Amino acid sequence: MPHDISWDEYNAAQAGRAPRASLGAALEAAGSGAADGRPADRPPVAIDLGCGEGVEVTALLEEGWIVHAIDGEPAALERLAERTPPELRGRLHIHQTSYGDIDVLPEADLVHASYSLPYCEPVHFHRLWAAVRASLRPGAVLACQLFGPHDDAYGDPEMTFHTAEEARALVEGLEIVTWTEEDADGTAYTGPKHWHVFHVVARRPVA
Ligand SMILES: C[S@@+](CC[C@H](N)C(=O)[O-])C[C@H]1O[C@@H](n2cnc3c(N)ncnc32)[C@H](O)[C@@H]1O
Repeated sequence: MPHDISWDEYNAAQAGRAPRASLGAALEAAGSGAADGRPADRPPVAIDLGCGEGVEVTALLEEGWIVHAIDGEPAALERLAERTPPELRGRLHIHQTSYGDIDVLPEADLVHASYSLPYCEPVHFHRLWAAVRASLRPGAVLACQLFGPHDDAYGDPEMTFHTAEEARALVEGLEIVTWTEEDADGTAYTGPKHWHVFHVVARRPVA
């Protein structure tokens, strides 16, 4: 994200779009896997890390999940709280926090982090990733994007990038549900962009 665009501007522009495909893929995987290790009488718990405007948070709430919505940008979180109807509000837990301040995350059956983890500064990434891995209950699903070295943003010192090998190492011990490498010209909020993205859906084994 160029530094002349604020996260508030980006996030506000996301209102009204459809939930990302990564959420659909995660829910599909959770439907077939997370339930294996989850007592039937316990509501499922999801984390949306770097949730922004909260489009996916709302979709998760509507699907019956308890949702921890985490982002550093206060205005987007305020809009999320305001638009969430009272009947869903009791299952919404909003955390305004910076990635660099995250040591521990709630235990979860699903962690969704769309286009958010690469914006963690390299100095904090290892700790944040450790918190993500530790939050995954047996059977839990993780859906996220990681950016590779061919991405136009590569070299931004405030962002974290991974080679394919490094990205694979991050998910070691998880079952890969889907792994897609995108290395192509496309568009971003700010205009044309070359994307190099690893789209990952993975599951912590039950046993
Ligand atoms: C590209 S947006 C993705 C938002 C949303 N997940 C989506 O798919 O539209 C990245 C998000 O990360 C948040 N973010 C960026 N840097 C952050 C940081 N250091 N700590 C916490 N949140 C941060 C921004 O506020 C923004 O909501």
